[in-house]
Amino acid sequence: MTDAASDLREKDIQYSLHPYTHLAAHEEKGPLTMERGENIYVWDSEGNRYIEGLAGLWCTSLGFSEKRLVEAARRQLEILPYTHTFAHRSSPPVIELCERLIDIAPHPMARAFLVASGSEAIDTAIKFVWYYNNALGRREKKKVISRQRGYHGVTIAGGSLTAIPLMQTDFDLPLDRFLHTDTPCYYRYGEEGESEEEFATRLADNLDRLIQSEDPDTVAAFVAEPVMGAGGVMPPPRSYFEKVQKVLKKHDVLFVADEVICGFGRTGNMWGSQTYDIAPDIVTCAKQLSSAYMPIAAIMIDDEIYRVFREQSKKHGALGTGYTYGGHPVAAAVALETLKIYEERNIMLHVNEVSSLFQQRLRELGNHALVGDARGVGLIGGLEIVSDKASRAQYEAEVKAAPKVFEKALREGLVVRALPGDTIGVCPPLIITREQINDLFDRLERAFDAAETELPGG
Ligand SMILES: Cc1ncc(COP(=O)(O)O)c(C=O)c1O
Repeated sequence: MTDAASDLREKDIQYSLHPYTHLAAHEEKGPLTMERGENIYVWDSEGNRYIEGLAGLWCTSLGFSEKRLVEAARRQLEILPYTHTFAHRSSPPVIELCERLIDIAPHPMARAFLVASGSEAIDTAIKFVWYYNNALGRREKKKVISRQRGYHGVTIAGGSLTAIPLMQTDFDLPLDRFLHTDTPCYYRYGEEGESEEEFATRLADNLDRLIQSEDPDTVAAFVAEPVMGAGGVMPPPRSYFEKVQKVLKKHDVLFVADEVICGFGRTGNMWGSQTYDIAPDIVTCAKQLSSAYMPIAAIMIDDEIYRVFREQSKKHGALGTGYTYGGHPVAAAVALETLKIYEERNIMLHVNEVSSLFQQRLRELGNHALVGDARGVGLIGGLEIVSDKASRAQYEAEVKAAPKVFEKALREGLVVRALPGDTIGVCPPLIITREQINDLFDRLERAFDAAETELPGG
């Protein structure tokens, strides 16, 4: 390690508080400092190259060296580095971006509201749901349902929806009003002899029962990722969303589609909602909206909600919420350029051309002794680790099976992610080529082989 790198390492240990990091272990281990990126690759401070197999945090769709995005940011920084969207103010890129989002929305939407992160988008969506029901005089209709192992960020409402113990324990979450229903993962939660459709029916029936037992007049919204991501990459079982949407309609419960990971091509369509025939009332999106080159996210609301908000403004004088960096012109300019690139280069077509190989290689890894389930869609995949394939038993948590595969992958020059449920997540930049997909899975296979020799029974 160079002196400069060693100096940075010491400073990081001394001054940085790292999210999702074992803080005591970090004092020994120090950071993995990434210094440079190009195409789908990143280089650490010691010059090691990695395939970024999780596109950063499911977000750098166009890779790490898209010059047009750099240029879009530079241009806007020179013209007008900042203005806001409060009190009738706006800027050209913000106006253009909102138009574009409404244009491509998965279901007719009326207005887009810009924020800076997925968590802010989710918290704002929940505030909008409450505001909407208050406006309609439905003051009791406020509870929000998400799924166990769903991930919706870490702010107070988002963290209440994110039903993963690590993210709630000792943070006094979830707050009241937040309820959780079943995880739609057929492999892990399907019962003996139950078909995938029957599993979906059971989950929809359970949701129906939950809403009835809480009283439908108190349940406002259901929040769901089309494909569950950070909770363990779980595409829905067949017919799940069709059945769930019937239940929601019956009880007049809004559907908030959290497209923060799925939005902008990840599942092979522009939106996960299109892949699974979801007709949401509200959409949240972020990440690939700007290929993560700038922090930006959005909430879209449909016309029915917008009309109610419009009336509320007459009553209250304004829509009483907003963020300093919501509608940041530089972030909006970069997002707009990202959407242009998706269209010009037909990124959706590219994803569809390469995703069959991605899914084939993923499924082949399902034959590995350590892998119980290989699941995914488009360019997202999860590999659930088991200690015994037949019984689907998992390793004890202390064994840290997924983190072991993650470490071995790093040594193979590949970044993946160890997710809850001992699942390895793979979600590369959308620009990945067939050759790079083969390289990625060759490395991942070697990582599984290496981990197997060190795991109990290996
Ligand atoms: C589906 C989903 N919703 C919300 C979020 C929160 O986004 P952020 O980390 O930008 O706050 C994430 C982050 O991974 C996510 O995957």
